[in-house]
Amino acid sequence: MSTVTYTAADGTVTTIEGRPGDSVMETAVRNGVRGIVGECGGSLSCATCHVFVSPETFELVGGPGDLEDEMLDGTAVERAENSRLSCQLKLQEGCDYHVTTPSEQI
Ligand code: FES
Repeated sequence: MSTVTYTAADGTVTTIEGRPGDSVMETAVRNGVRGIVGECGGSLSCATCHVFVSPETFELVGGPGDLEDEMLDGTAVERAENSRLSCQLKLQEGCDYHVTTPSEQI
């Protein structure tokens, strides 16, 4: 198992056990975690799954690829150095992920 801890813009913290291979976006949507929309279903065409990753998680997942990097220019809340699109963050067995969701996605 893996865990994903989501901190909302208002400070609400939700921790979910995720399935390896699922994305941080899918895990949020399936469990009703607010703050991630995932409008395109993970096909990297909407940028409504924007999150800010913790330093530890950034070490684990690294930075975005070229297309994701382009999409991050279109997020509702301005991107930061630790921005990622959560549909691109696939859970690995035994790893813990920490992300903060922006105040809006659309
Ligand atoms: S869900 Fe659309 S880009 Fe991530």
